[in-house]
Amino acid sequence: MNSSELLRSTSSLPEHETRRLLVAATGRHWTELILGVELEADDVEQFETLVRRRLDGEPLQYIEGTAAFGPIEVIVDPRVLIPRPETEQLFELACDAIDDPKVIVDLCTGSGNLAIALKHRFPTAIVYATDLSPDAVDVARENARRNRLDVTVLEGDLFEPLPDHVAGRVDLIVSNPPYIAEHEREGLPEDVREHEPVAALIAGPVGDEVLARIAESAPEWLGPDGVVVCEISEFLGAEVAAHFAGLGGEIRRDLAGKERFVIASRRIRL
Ligand SMILES: C[S@@+](CC[C@H](N)C(=O)[O-])C[C@H]1O[C@@H](n2cnc3c(N)ncnc32)[C@H](O)[C@@H]1O
Repeated sequence: MNSSELLRSTSSLPEHETRRLLVAATGRHWTELILGVELEADDVEQFETLVRRRLDGEPLQYIEGTAAFGPIEVIVDPRVLIPRPETEQLFELACDAIDDPKVIVDLCTGSGNLAIALKHRFPTAIVYATDLSPDAVDVARENARRNRLDVTVLEGDLFEPLPDHVAGRVDLIVSNPPYIAEHEREGLPEDVREHEPVAALIAGPVGDEVLARIAESAPEWLGPDGVVVCEISEFLGAEVAAHFAGLGGEIRRDLAGKERFVIASRRIRL
């Protein structure tokens, strides 16, 4: 079958999704497909399988196996959360908060998106990333390798796996930690509940539990001018500001005007 005819006849999904799925199914370049090439029966069958998976609600990025994040691309699968646009804003906020970080730590790294993008932005920095989940650690290490960037990914609870000599020397701590409350679980979108590692999103009964622990331990790890930037729940700005009050924490809004980030430092420079 001809690729352009196939695209025209598949109207059950938005056009841009159909195109991306045909690229994923055939491994061919988009321009070639739009101009029209004869496809093998196997490719057509594979495309139809991917369309069915998408119609069943599976996120496009899991089907494609990759997600763009700032200046990099990471592989994603159900072992890790798909990086969100708000987290790209967290990345930009972190980059603007500091000039020349020597040591960077990304807590709750998941796919490694933040840690790897920061190493891309600050190539001379030493970058550590930690995650409790051995699966996430595997994915983050694979992503660092694929991007040819040197990031040390460690398995464990928040700061616990970091080497002792890093204490008091970290210039930038970033984190997109779990911040959903237990009672919000059922209200999450169906595609998230059905396909993403929901346990990685839930922090506890209130939602600020992991952020509270980050705020408590950060002073021990930060250097004299170190900065912490974290993503937070839009419903917990006041609670998170209180946790980071000792570090001069300020709440920042996302592009939609929601309170989505906390930035804190012994010396706020923004
Ligand atoms: C919301 S996901 C964020 C993933 C990634 N940073 C991103 O921006 O897409 C949270 C991650 O935190 C990890 N995690 C949860 N509790 C943790 C803890 N106490 N210490 C380290 N990692 C933790 C989960 O395994 C999961 O990968």
